[in-house]
Amino acid sequence: LSTTEIDLSAIEPGQAIKATFRKQPLFVRNLTPKEIAEANAVSIADLRDPQTLEERTKTGKNNWLITLGVCTHLGCVPLGAGEGENKGPFGGYFCPCHGSAYDTAGRIRSGPAPQNLHVPEYTFTSDTVVTVG
Ligand code: FES
Repeated sequence: LSTTEIDLSAIEPGQAIKATFRKQPLFVRNLTPKEIAEANAVSIADLRDPQTLEERTKTGKNNWLITLGVCTHLGCVPLGAGEGENKGPFGGYFCPCHGSAYDTAGRIRSGPAPQNLHVPEYTFTSDTVVTVG
């Protein structure tokens, strides 16, 4: 199976880009300290798909949120990465198809999607390069 290399050096805090991984959209987001704090302030017991930001990112690299850009409801591409500024009511991503809203950890917070945006396998091959897959 193929891997995808992502150069992180040009992604500013607060910015998210859309890339492609195995023909699927991939979101790579550089979280601001405020977005990290917002994710960590959520009570895990309130989540539909309970996961911490820590579990969804790499140790010491919690600012890099890397997920598939595929809504877990019926597979639309949520907004909030690369085009438009509609991050939805929870500040992460917003799926326009049926209104699923994801938070700054890419976790489902409202709408019909059953799961968080999926986190693919990936490794940091340097401070500024990630290999996905
Ligand atoms: Fe995203 Fe339905 S496909 S809300």
